[in-house]
Order: sequence, then C-alpha cells, then structure tokens
Amino acid sequence: MQLQFQATISAADEALICPVIFASKKPQISGYPKALQNFIRNALKAKQLEPKEGSHFEIPLAIPRFPKYITLVSLGEEGKIKESTVRSNIASAIKTLRVAKKKVATLMYPSELNQYARVVGEAVVMANHLVGRYKTGKLLEEDKKRTITAIHLITIAKNAIDEELRKGIATGLIVNTTRDLINDPPNILTARALSEVGRKIAKDNGYKCQIFEKKDLEKMKMGALLAVNAASTRPEDDARLVVLEYMPNKNEKPIALVGKGIIFDTGGYDLKPSRHMADMQQDMSGAAVVFGVFALLKKLGIKHNVIGVAAITANLVGPNAYKATEIFTSYSGKTIEITNTDAEGRVVLADAISYAVKQYKPKSLIDIATLTGAVCVALGDRYAGMMGTDRKTMKLLKKAGKKTDDLLWQLPIHPDFEAKMKSKIADLRNSEDGYYAGSQKGGAFLKNFVEKTPWIHLDIAGTAFTSDPKKYESMMGTGFGVRLLTNYLENL
Ligand code: BES
Ligand code: ZN
Ligand code: ZN
Repeated sequence: MQLQFQATISAADEALICPVIFASKKPQISGYPKALQNFIRNALKAKQLEPKEGSHFEIPLAIPRFPKYITLVSLGEEGKIKESTVRSNIASAIKTLRVAKKKVATLMYPSELNQYARVVGEAVVMANHLVGRYKTGKLLEEDKKRTITAIHLITIAKNAIDEELRKGIATGLIVNTTRDLINDPPNILTARALSEVGRKIAKDNGYKCQIFEKKDLEKMKMGALLAVNAASTRPEDDARLVVLEYMPNKNEKPIALVGKGIIFDTGGYDLKPSRHMADMQQDMSGAAVVFGVFALLKKLGIKHNVIGVAAITANLVGPNAYKATEIFTSYSGKTIEITNTDAEGRVVLADAISYAVKQYKPKSLIDIATLTGAVCVALGDRYAGMMGTDRKTMKLLKKAGKKTDDLLWQLPIHPDFEAKMKSKIADLRNSEDGYYAGSQKGGAFLKNFVEKTPWIHLDIAGTAFTSDPKKYESMMGTGFGVRLLTNYLENL
C-alpha cells in the first residue's frame, strides 16, 4: 500500500473519501474546497447525509477537476468522536471503493482526525485484505482488481500524523498477514512452515529465536506436547516449540506471550462432528497472534522485554494417536490423564507455559488460544473470554480491548472448577464430563502450570475466525488479539 500526502485534490484522484465532523449538528468543513463544501451542504439538505455518526452517502460525482466518485461519512460530533466509529466508517468506505474497483483512495484529512491517525492507517489496510489468495487466473485477477493500491491523504498537517499513520499501516499489514496464516490449510501451513514464520520474523527484526524440534522435545521431556503430536506421521508435521525473545532492556523480567498452535484439530479419537471440524485450520490462531505481535514489537518501538512461545502440532487420528485414558508426564513433571483427546489445546499449552515460567521467570504470562467451543456459546463472536490471576493486567487488557475493538469479558475460575480437573489416577485430567463452565475448566487446568506467575488466559475460540465480519474484517481469520496485545504493551 502506497502512501502519499497532498495539499490539495489532484486530477489523478479518482475516488474521494470525505469525513464530515459536526459541531452542534453543523458540518465543520470550512477547510474543504468550496465545490466540496457546496456538495456536502446539498447532501445534508437532501438528507442524503445526516449528522448522526456512521451516516454515509456514496455517489459518482460531476464536479469539474474533482474525483469522479465520492463517499461522504459522518463521524458525528466534534469532541465525541469514537475510535470505533472512525475505524468502521473508514473501513466501510474503503470496502465500497473496492467493490467499485477503484485503485487509489483519496482521503480528506481534517485536523480533528489527527489523534486518530493510527486507527485510520489500520482501518484502511485491514479493510483492504484479500482473502482469495489461492484463486488462480481470472478469479484471482478479479479479486486483485478489487483491492486498493494506494492511499492519498489531503492534509496540511503531514508531520502531525505521518508517524502514527505509518505505524497504523504497518499494524494493519501484520494483522492481514496474521489472518492469512490463520486461513492457510494444514497441507500448506505445516507445523514446520508455521515454525519457520517465527524464525523469519526473528531474522527480519534481529530477535533471538529457538525452534525446538521433536528430538529436542523428547530430550526436554515435553510429554504433553508430544502426546498430542503422536498421530502426525509427516516429518514436516513433527511438533515444534518456537521461542522468540525481544529484549530491549537489560536485567528486566520479560512478559511472556504463549500461543496455541494446533495447525488442524480433528479432535483426535474423541472425534469432532464434521460441522465442528470444518474451519479447524484456525486452531493455530493463538500462535499466529503471538507471531503477529512479535512482527510489530520493534516497528512500534515497544519498550518492554517480551518473550513469545508457540506450541505447534496437529491433532490427528492414526495408529499412533494418543487415546483417552492414557497418562503423560508434562514438562512440569505433573502427570496428565487424557479424558478427551479433543481437549488438546490445554495439553500443549501446559508444556509451553511451563517452559516460559521455568526458563524466563516472566513478570506476567498471557496465553492466547482457541481453547473451547464453550466460549463461543457463552460470549459469541464479539467478546473473547478472559480468565486469570493477574487482576491489574486484566484491567489493562480490557481497556486495550475497548480501544482496539478486541473486546474481552472476564470469566471466573472457581476453586470448584479447579477441583474438577484433578484425576483419580494422575495429577490432572484434561477434561471433565460435565457440560457446565467449559471455558473456565479449561482455564482451571492451565492454572496448574503457571506456578506463582501472574497469569491471564485469553480464549479466542469465538473471535479468531468469522463468517460475519465486522466492517474492518474479512471472512475467516480476524487477527483478533494482535492489536489488543500491542496496544496493551505500548501503553504499559
Ligand atoms: N479447538 C477446539 C476449540 C474451538 C472450538 C476452537 C470452536 C475454535 C472454534 C478445542 O481444541 C476443543 O475441541 N475443545 C473442546 C474441549 C472439550 C473436549 C473439553 C470443546 O470445546 O468442545
Ligand atoms: Zn480440540
Ligand atoms: Zn483445538
């Protein structure tokens, strides 16, 4: 996406997005060219545009030397503009231009929007995401015709917004790459391929990266991660643990981010019904989000030490697959009785969390995972479930979520849920029959591996993947969590 600043509209601009901000219902448009002002006033008179935030009006335009296509969007009353309004309305305008096959979006940029430059940059790019990457020939060409290639900003205050806008664009691009990773099927995004994504991000940014392969995991006694991996037969699907380090400060304990990286979840022998198995390529969203955050730490100049751990494998069936009743010793030393092979996320996270805790003694640990169907039932596709022991961080994450529209809702881990995860024959069991509080029991299981580390668990099973995209989303992977976590880290 090319970015260009201009002082005025030029003949080359084909499509204009024009935000209108109101003060006591009067449009604040004195900075706009006269012809445009008249056009807006007429649109208001004809009630094609209304002061109410989100009202918009698209029309082919016939003003000499003006773009042929214009979108007016109301952002509501000055001083009361919400980031979510800016994000979704800019995104929707971009989507309209894509349908109209415009290549360049020209955006009038009034100074009232200066503080929203990050949001604008993110929204433009996120709304321009192309899902059909595996289409070929005409179909691919058609889709490509429907993407914007450049954005022109009409502003007199380039310096005030340039950096934030660029950070927003960079963030949007990484959110889109994260979505691509989530959408990739397991024959393409194998365990090896996903681990290589981590390596590439480290190399590009100069971070330290370790990839532990199956033979390393055996030596390290990561019995839990290896149990889930047992049915995988192709070498490229051997389990991997990827560990990334971003350490700008000496002698500071890091914050640990731990992601579930199940490249496909069949459920194992406690098989998923087919309608639940569809879309299970998304089950590595947590790992993808951790990688997305790492791709941005340096670009956004984040000042804290952060480590990232991704536990990567498929959950398959086959002669060697792990089975219910089997007992495995995790990296922590604790034994886990498998009571349902479909509760595999918590099993691989057990080892990844223990690794982060033991090797790095982090000052806090946030795990992010598509962990339970129950969280979809409880909170749907607009809130992710949040649990944990670190109240302060939960409060800050919730705030970051409001800013970024990655909304969080806290769920309680009652001691009785923890008791339910104890096994008769081993230390723990990975599931409990009861239908109640499925997400919290998942959280209760994970709690056994964090030791004293202040901990937050984000269950993104309902929000990582969508068939009902928001204005700035596409079908399939959403990238939920990337902006949430970078925003949290930036404001810490
Ligand atoms: N990957 C699934 C959870 C999931 C569901 C992710 C829907 C995305 C969308 C997870 O591994 C799983 O299958 N969990 C089980 C746990 C149960 C067996 C205790 C579930 O939620 O049914
Ligand atoms: Zn599962
Ligand atoms: Zn899963």
